[in-house]
Amino acid sequence: MFKSNEILKDSIKYLKSHRKETPELDSKILLGFALGLKEKIYLHEELNVSEEKLTNFRKLLEVRVKGKPISRIIGKRFFWKNVFNINDWTLDPRPDSEILIEEILRQNIDKTHDHKILDLGCGSGCLGLSLLGEFPNSSLICVDRCKKAIIQAKQNSENLFFVDRTKFLHANWFDQNWTINLLKMLKIRTKFDIIISNPPYVKANQIQKLQKEVRNYDPMIALNGGDDGCDSYRAIFKNIRNLLSDKGITAIEISDYLIKPLKEIVLKEGLIIKNIVKDYSGKKRVMIIK
Ligand SMILES: C[S@@+](CC[C@H](N)C(=O)[O-])C[C@H]1O[C@@H](n2cnc3c(N)ncnc32)[C@H](O)[C@@H]1O
Repeated sequence: MFKSNEILKDSIKYLKSHRKETPELDSKILLGFALGLKEKIYLHEELNVSEEKLTNFRKLLEVRVKGKPISRIIGKRFFWKNVFNINDWTLDPRPDSEILIEEILRQNIDKTHDHKILDLGCGSGCLGLSLLGEFPNSSLICVDRCKKAIIQAKQNSENLFFVDRTKFLHANWFDQNWTINLLKMLKIRTKFDIIISNPPYVKANQIQKLQKEVRNYDPMIALNGGDDGCDSYRAIFKNIRNLLSDKGITAIEISDYLIKPLKEIVLKEGLIIKNIVKDYSGKKRVMIIK
């Protein structure tokens, strides 16, 4: 048997020598994961570790050294108030996207009401399912083009006990009639009160310039926004008026370089930009549309 605190000291040194940014945190999380624990382990703990578990842990360290993000190794990411499982077909949820949730909560929407929420491009479901947690009487439809992302979002909705309030639609917003299926599913009682989306918005010619951890591990379908980064916005905005209720709002993730073309698309579709919100690093991150 080996002692966890000794193993951690060695692995922290090892990750530091490979210039990993957070060697201590990475080591604690990976050792906890290798030991089958729910939490990371701490330096003051002195757990017994078998040779087999130590070998597994060292394999995980090697994967980390080669550049795989911790969240991808353990298959989970904490987002807003919950842990979301992720797979190779879902984007790794980003802390910046939490601003979308914050901004919707700032709109003074009655939390007790039965709102219809739509998450376009749900991935792991982190956005829509986080909103369901905030609006306990509301229901959610999650849409994604990727079946395996939908499978993951469904599992996350089960883990959070939201199954009764969530439906999933496998659809592509570039298809002409995709909203017809969506409205059929809703049985068109009402339109949506809240639409939330973090569509792919990286310009095609910038993909190769992304950080290796993003380029190699996030799915291309979740990143590539076409030549000007706006392909998905054009397809989504074209249908906002068919989908959004009169008093409803849309919160969509954006980036600084998209502002100018997005303003044109919004204007062309007869929509109104209510607000543009910056993230904590001062970059424009959320557009609220009515
Ligand atoms: C940037 S990811 C966002 C995932 C998740 N909402 C999040 O914030 O972590 C974009 C998502 O849109 C989906 N997507 C991309 N193109 C799509 C399309 N044409 N129709 C429907 N979904 C699409 C991708 O599969 C991916 O899950």
